[in-house]
Order: sequence, then C-alpha cells, then structure tokens
Amino acid sequence: MPVRKAVIPAAGFGTRFLPATKAQPKEMLPIVDTPIIQYVVEEAIASGIEDILIITGRGKRTIEDHFDRSIELETFLERNHRDSLLSTVRDVGNLANVFFVRQKEQLGLGHAVLQARHHIGNEPFAVLLGDEIFFGARPALSQLMDVYDQVGGSVVGVMEVSADEVQRYGVIKPEKVNEGLYLATDLVEKPATHEAPSRMAICGRYVLDPAIFDILETLPPGKNGEIQLTDAIRILGKWQPIYACEIDARRYDVGDKLGYLQATVEIALEREDLGEAFRDYLTNLLLTRSEVSR
Ligand code: G1P
Repeated sequence: MPVRKAVIPAAGFGTRFLPATKAQPKEMLPIVDTPIIQYVVEEAIASGIEDILIITGRGKRTIEDHFDRSIELETFLERNHRDSLLSTVRDVGNLANVFFVRQKEQLGLGHAVLQARHHIGNEPFAVLLGDEIFFGARPALSQLMDVYDQVGGSVVGVMEVSADEVQRYGVIKPEKVNEGLYLATDLVEKPATHEAPSRMAICGRYVLDPAIFDILETLPPGKNGEIQLTDAIRILGKWQPIYACEIDARRYDVGDKLGYLQATVEIALEREDLGEAFRDYLTNLLLTRSEVSR
C-alpha cells in the first residue's frame, strides 16, 4: 500500500526558544522569510504525500492561519499589483490538503502521533518532526519512502552523530543490509553515551505501519516520563522488520539555537535575491572582526 498521508507533530512548547515562543509557535519561526513548518510541509509534498495532518495544541492557531487563504492580504496585494508576493501568499494556502487535530495534553511524541489514529486509519503513514530540516538532491522523506516501497515494514531515518550527542536522540542498534540501509534490531530513546547501541541517531523522519497505534494506546511513559515513539517502534520490531535508512542530505537541527542560525545563514547564502549581498556582508564582517581581534 503506498504512503499517502503524513503527520507533523507541532504541539511542543518550544522552551529552547523562549522568549520568542512565549506567544507564537516555534514552528512559525522563520528561516529567512519562510516558517520552519513550511519547509517541512514542502518536503512532504515533494516526496509525494497528498494529505498532511498537523498535530497542534493550544497557542498554535497561527499555524492553521498560515496554511489557510488570507483574503484581506490577497485583496491588498492584488490592488497594489504586487503579483509575485500575491502568488507566494496564494501558493502557501494551496500547498496540499492540510488538516489539524489538537493534542490536549503534552504527554510526549508517541502520544502526539496517537492523536492521528482516526485520521490515518489502517494505512502506512509518514511522520516528519519539525525540529530538523533537510536539503539535498532528493527530499529526505522520499528516501525513506523508496526503502518502504522496496522492503515494506517500517522505516526510520538515521544519521551518525558524535558520541556526546547520542543522549539527545533515539538510537538504533544497526545490522547492515546494504550501503545506507540497516535493520534496526533494537532502539533506545536518549541513551547515556556508554549505553548507546551505536551512534546512529533517529532524525525526525519515519514511515510507520498503522499497527503502531495499538501499541501507543497502551504504552506506559518512558524516558523523561513521556510516551515515547521510539519505545513503540521497538515493540513493533518484535513482529515486523524495522529498517533504518541513512538520510543523504544536509541536515539542520533547527530546534537548537546554533542549528537554527546555521540554517538561516546557509539558506540565505543560497538565495538568489540575497545570496550575493549577504556573502559580501559576511566576508566584510569577518575581515573587520579579525582585524579588530589582532
Ligand atoms: C525526538 C525523538 C527522538 C529523535 C528526535 C529527533 O526527540 O523522541 O527519538 O531522535 O526527536 O530529533 P526530541 O527531539 O523531541 O526530544
């Protein structure tokens, strides 16, 4: 069965970006001029997803507004002949079939994904976390979907991280199948460095069998008292293969301040409208700063 639907959990508080996220969702923070969540939605669409369910919570209304039409703004832009901006604004509202459901209590990522059960029904589905965005020749999610098409089961996206970073991720025990593809024979959520089964970290992209929902319904809280998606996938692995696909793309951890800044600078440098001027600015800045520090 093809993967047609995707779930994007977007209910977290965004404490790492306070005070910016006190009154606005972290998913709406812009990288240059585009909210983080739009990059994620565009990746899902570029991977062939037709239907996107965003799991929101209180204080996340602007995400819904962002993917809706904005008639007043469109009328204003139309009247002032701002055609290019007009199509940018209209295109966002027409990106895909985007649906919303609210997670009423923040009980963890597994619990957020469980809120999608009714919408997804009994078909395989993708999950994209908004804390990471990817740029490469092929959309990150499409790489997992290709693996799913070839081998079935469930698939998690992984990347190698340093030994001191494993504690921030779900980590797999890999058994190599072929180049870039592994069987995840075990999964551990946020292990201490000495307990990690490898340095292959799950990085925010999944293709999951709907059997995960039955597991999530009864799963007790795990690490940090939260219902963990990684724990549910580990149980799923007892009766179906869990594959891990090494994602071939540049990855930015935009849930982290440094990663957010890196994404902003690198994406700005690649933009046709900004790249050259921004590159000149950065070069001059570095020259001036290094002269000052000499
Ligand atoms: C979540 C998952 C974790 C995964 C990570 C990727 O953790 O629980 O397994 O490796 O996303 O970003 P979080 O970052 O929400 O703590």
